[in-house]
Amino acid sequence: MAKKGINETAVENRRVLMRVDFNVPLVGKRITDDRRIVLSLESVRSVIDRGGKLILMSHLGRPKGQVRPELSLRPVSEHLSRLLERPVAFAEDCVGVAAERAAEALGHGNVVLLENLRFHAAETLIDKAKKNPDHKPTAEQQAEIDRFAEGLSRHADLYCNNAFGTCHRKHVSMYDVPKRLGPGRRVCGLLVLKELRFLGDALRDPARPFAAILGGAKVSDKIGVIAHLLPKVDTILIGGAMAYTFLAAKGTAPGGSLCERDRLDLAADLLKKAEGKIRLPADSVCAQTLAPGVATRVVSGDIDDGLKGFDVGPQTVQAFEQVIADAATILWNGPMGVFETPPFDAGTLAVARALAEATRRGATTIIGGGDSAAAVHAAGLDQAMTHISTGGGASLEFLEGKAFDTIDILDDA
Ligand code: 3PG
Ligand code: MG
Repeated sequence: MAKKGINETAVENRRVLMRVDFNVPLVGKRITDDRRIVLSLESVRSVIDRGGKLILMSHLGRPKGQVRPELSLRPVSEHLSRLLERPVAFAEDCVGVAAERAAEALGHGNVVLLENLRFHAAETLIDKAKKNPDHKPTAEQQAEIDRFAEGLSRHADLYCNNAFGTCHRKHVSMYDVPKRLGPGRRVCGLLVLKELRFLGDALRDPARPFAAILGGAKVSDKIGVIAHLLPKVDTILIGGAMAYTFLAAKGTAPGGSLCERDRLDLAADLLKKAEGKIRLPADSVCAQTLAPGVATRVVSGDIDDGLKGFDVGPQTVQAFEQVIADAATILWNGPMGVFETPPFDAGTLAVARALAEATRRGATTIIGGGDSAAAVHAAGLDQAMTHISTGGGASLEFLEGKAFDTIDILDDA
């Protein structure tokens, strides 16, 4: 069921409590990648341009219920103010007097950002409660969750979830707050709607051929995604260290490369189910150790014990480029090699460039967040893809076909 968007909801003179995912990488107070903030602006503007009073809330990092000054959202409020070219107020706490005063002081079209939600242990208490013997919160834990939900809900006439990157977390600001506010007062942000459109609808009925490119270190992290995508795709290209587990399952020696020996049966099983849809690397760029600029050797077939594969080789790149060139829809999740350490970035960069070229000729290209989004960003190709997800764990879980309670609870269109 389609969800009601913030742009279809009356906001004039109403206090809109918007959950955003401003969990951005920081070096000191400098934001090194502001995509999550930039991509939230459409919804932010939709509220303030129509005379709403906007209260933004987010987490940053994992402070685990402690006030950690280095994880304050204040630098983010300053950055947001520059992007919007207007003042953005900041409240020192997300609940209590400081937050309530800040919310009450808002005029039409004003914005305040509340301090890091995770400075309160209640925000993520549900994760801890899941470890209880019955996997449920105790009465005491539930009371703490309810108190925090009540404190946050007080700021709101209307709730909006625009935090796609956090939709796989059933945290208080994501679930209990909209639950408390009730039907008619909980809507979906435009960034979440966009992510649902690309990761959901586009993959449900993709233009063909549909190719997925999966990488990363471990097969075990991607089993769910592979299993969910196999019936939908025409081809899955596999790179990254997880390729060595698949190759080993087929009898090719991985040498000293990362290989999940306890997952060989699983890899063999997936290959069998894939009926030829899975394509593995034909060659690897290997070295004795992982270091920038080390001597490398391209190996096809068995890898010697003294060598480790850190990237896909040139023959593989060529084969993958061909599949990408022929595809109408391409989904990419996970790097092809250790792209943080050149020269082992070559395979990943080649895939990023091939996807940019595919986008130019009209293919739909979807980047599934996390490391692959970082690689596209590093290659300067942010603008060259159809969609780059702002989710890391969230887009992975979404691509596994999981439904999110945090989205289900929002009002239908
Ligand atoms: C993320 O970056 O994955 C989201 O912001 C969620 O953060 P978390 O993984 O710490 O819950
Ligand atoms: Mg995460």
